[in-house]
Amino acid sequence: MAAPCPVYGRCGGCHYQHAPYEYQLGVKRAILVEALQRLGKIEPPAEIAVVAAEPFGYRNRVQLHVEEKHLGYREARSHKLCAVNECPVGSPKINQAVAALAAMQRDWRWPRFIKSLEVFTDENEVQINVLETDRPVARRFFDWCAKEIPGLVEGALDYQGKFRVSSNSFFQVNRLLIDRLVEAAIEGAEGETALDLYAGVGLLSLPLARRFREVTAVESGAGAVRDLQFNTERAGLGNLQAMAQTAEERLAQLEKAPDFVVLDPPRTGLGKAVVARLTELRPRQITIVACDPATLARDLAGLVAAGYRVEGMTLMDLFPQTYHLETVVRLVM
Ligand SMILES: C[S@@+](CC[C@H](N)C(=O)[O-])C[C@H]1O[C@@H](n2cnc3c(N)ncnc32)[C@H](O)[C@@H]1O
Repeated sequence: MAAPCPVYGRCGGCHYQHAPYEYQLGVKRAILVEALQRLGKIEPPAEIAVVAAEPFGYRNRVQLHVEEKHLGYREARSHKLCAVNECPVGSPKINQAVAALAAMQRDWRWPRFIKSLEVFTDENEVQINVLETDRPVARRFFDWCAKEIPGLVEGALDYQGKFRVSSNSFFQVNRLLIDRLVEAAIEGAEGETALDLYAGVGLLSLPLARRFREVTAVESGAGAVRDLQFNTERAGLGNLQAMAQTAEERLAQLEKAPDFVVLDPPRTGLGKAVVARLTELRPRQITIVACDPATLARDLAGLVAAGYRVEGMTLMDLFPQTYHLETVVRLVM
């Protein structure tokens, strides 16, 4: 099938645009099953739920590189620039900002020392973060951006009025599946106490605090934890405690297991120390949100060997047109 993007095949961002969407989902399911079997030596559940939304126009964040008079992504397996004026997986507001920046970049006023920047949006507000630059960027550049890009904010973006997200804080990139991801991550969670490790700005912690008597959220990023604390206070959730520490540190301090633990680590996964400590504490319910099937398979192997049973598995297609996939796994003791 013909890919809708004119630079597909050259741009390193997408890998599957030539394949019908149902086929892409089937391939991802097969990759997940294979990782579980081959790397984790565990039998996948008979049923893996697949959650998907619109496969284009979903991304709320993009990183752009700048070279001479061009702006765009990197080519696949290369440092060469692939110039873009629009991106079919980007949201409408992302594309509005990319077009504006591409035009600005051809203007003599553009600061030629900016090497890369990031655009993040909730379709209302827009945040521009300069990622790499040879010199500090003057304020007049952002004033110019504010004129060309409607909704530009200074500093943190207030994602749909619910989550303050500062420039270096993580936030989910598929704007169309955020609510479904939260639902899947806290599905079936029961009891009095919950622990959200790798909490980010509180995407899962806030809904958990509305369900549990006592919730602890742990985040190691300095900026993200400040956002988490701000979001907790603004939501008036006195039963949610936001801790600035690592998951490993928190687990080492715990004497008693909470009723429910949710873990949403970076691509490196949980790792040996976290898995080992979880198997000592033995919380009754654990949910893992994983963006890498290989590290997920390794982590699951450790938990299953210690007596956990996979109660449910959902493949969330947060990154259509790419080979990336997200998995939510519910484990019970
Ligand atoms: C994939 S994000 C998930 C954030 C959040 N659950 C969400 O959905 O928005 C992972 C988060 O874990 C944080 N992090 C990375 N390593 C950590 C560690 N060892 N302990 C605690 N947090 C960590 C990162 O700063 C990041 O905010």
